[in-house]
Amino acid sequence: MELQQRVLFTILVFGLACSVHGIVWYEPEQVHIAIGANPDEMVIVWNTVNDTGESKVLYGSGGKLNQTASGSRTKFVDGGEEKRSQFIHRVVLQGLSEKTEYAYIVGSSLAWSNSFSFKTWPRGEKWSPRIALFGDMGNENAQSLPRLQVETMQGMYDAILHVGDFAYDMDEDNARVGDNFMRQIEPMASKIPYLTCPGNHEQAYNFSNYRNRFWMPEDENKQMYYSFTIGPVRFLSLATELIFFPQYGLVPIVEQYKWLKRTLAEANKPENRAKHPWIVAFGHRPMYCNNDDVDDCTHHESLVRVGIPILHLLGWEKLFMEYGVDLAVWAHEHSYERMWPVYDRQVMNASAQAPYTNPKAPVHIVTGSAGCREIHDNFTTNPQPWSAFRSLDYGYTRMHVINTTHLYLEQVSDDKGGLVIDKMTLIKERHGPHDPNPRDVTPKGDPLMKLWNTWGKYVNIDTYSKK
Ligand SMILES: *[C@@H]1O[C@H](CO)[C@@H](O)[C@H](O)[C@H]1NC(C)=O
Ligand SMILES: *[C@@H]1O[C@H](CO)[C@@H](O)[C@H](O)[C@H]1NC(C)=O
Ligand SMILES: *[C@@H]1O[C@H](CO)[C@@H](O)[C@H](O)[C@H]1NC(C)=O
Ligand SMILES: *[C@@H]1O[C@H](CO)[C@@H](O)[C@H](O)[C@H]1NC(C)=O
Ligand SMILES: *[C@@H]1O[C@H](CO)[C@@H](O)[C@H](O)[C@H]1NC(C)=O
Ligand SMILES: *[C@@H]1O[C@H](CO)[C@@H](O)[C@H](O)[C@H]1NC(C)=O
Ligand SMILES: [Fe+2]
Repeated sequence: MELQQRVLFTILVFGLACSVHGIVWYEPEQVHIAIGANPDEMVIVWNTVNDTGESKVLYGSGGKLNQTASGSRTKFVDGGEEKRSQFIHRVVLQGLSEKTEYAYIVGSSLAWSNSFSFKTWPRGEKWSPRIALFGDMGNENAQSLPRLQVETMQGMYDAILHVGDFAYDMDEDNARVGDNFMRQIEPMASKIPYLTCPGNHEQAYNFSNYRNRFWMPEDENKQMYYSFTIGPVRFLSLATELIFFPQYGLVPIVEQYKWLKRTLAEANKPENRAKHPWIVAFGHRPMYCNNDDVDDCTHHESLVRVGIPILHLLGWEKLFMEYGVDLAVWAHEHSYERMWPVYDRQVMNASAQAPYTNPKAPVHIVTGSAGCREIHDNFTTNPQPWSAFRSLDYGYTRMHVINTTHLYLEQVSDDKGGLVIDKMTLIKERHGPHDPNPRDVTPKGDPLMKLWNTWGKYVNIDTYSKK
């Protein structure tokens, strides 16, 4: 080439290179799944940094990817300084067969993911789901995560319920912590439905990371509370945080209460309760605990339990009693605690020998010890009479719904190499209201003091940062 031509060529190539606007990321990541509104559906969710113009899943049984489904994506802009953006894709697979292993890849004509798989549940109610339960799992010190991953891969669970508080916190570092956390859970969350409820650590920018990243059944409007069934169980996923962050709206607090009452009443119609005799509610902040901090559950008038103090409006415990919630699962305290059956701070053992056989009140557990950077919460030295078992070991809970009468729970200690440190079988020969007309919960102390305690909490900055 002549010198002139070389110079021209160089300029041309340089010009072309400059006209390309930076690097693009079309590669799918953070793949996770949730159940759909119907039993033959699965919802597949993933992220890409750049817009791919389409959201597709190739999937099929027998190791074949011979089916295609399309969905949509939304641009999620984090509320942090950088206003980082990404696209969250969502595709609903429909018409799936029961008890079938499906392979799938997600993406677009610009880039595809690795291959993942899930196995659909049996149809109907007559099977025995196994579920992993835990809350408060972070990015740092997620001690239980590797064990949960292996057990998920070994096929030990049909679903995971993460009872609030993710990543610590998803919005941190302009939501990079959220991205990292979603990558951490991908091996589990791409394989079995990862079902959630919000915790206090999700509150930034009106829970926007939580609302955008997770798609839960019957929650298209992202109210953050919803209901679903697994086998013989009706689950209610509750947003305890609405009442602790009233700055995001008072109406949602009332709306959730109305929804809870309506949903419980519907679940108790004889034909519905016959199909789904078990009612299990889960939410982040407990009604009962015996930790030595000053959290809501340590107060006589816990907001979750009694609602607005003095007036006792919008409290959930009375509804749980009236509509026969069998089991309530909570987290937030970084520990594990099992309670005796309890209502209004009174132990309601069925009998001294068999307290969990046909109890006349809900049973509560707190399982918030999966592992996060805030380590543990200690217990008081004088636990209340409703406290049956406590542990500070990192770990998680396994639920096995054996059949319509037997529900088994066990607590795994990761500190002790996976040892089961607590077991309980809840036996219910009849399901239904514990008491169709429960007494009101007992008030305590000076009403002005109670009011101060409540509103003091609303302005207490600790509510934002702790656990
Ligand atoms: C890809 O995303 C990055 C980060 O949001 C952005 O800076 C860039 O302009 C995008 N590129 C295209 C082609 O959209
Ligand atoms: C896809 O392939 C599997 C395995 O060969 C087969 O059972 C299934 O019927 C096929 N589905 C479609 C839609 O072709
Ligand atoms: C927070 O988000 C919810 C759900 O989108 C909405 O109803 C509510 O008005 C929002 N609150 C504020 C203060 O923006
Ligand atoms: C409830 O039953 C357990 C187990 O028998 C017992 O240890 C506990 O003291 C009982 N509590 C009450 C208040 O009866
Ligand atoms: C719990 O107790 C241990 C031992 O007394 C102490 O080191 C730790 O700081 C306590 N944790 C909290 C969160 O108070
Ligand atoms: C449920 O399983 C338990 C434990 O295996 C068994 O004792 C009980 O009879 C079963 N109940 C029903 C209704 O099948
Ligand atoms: Fe929390």
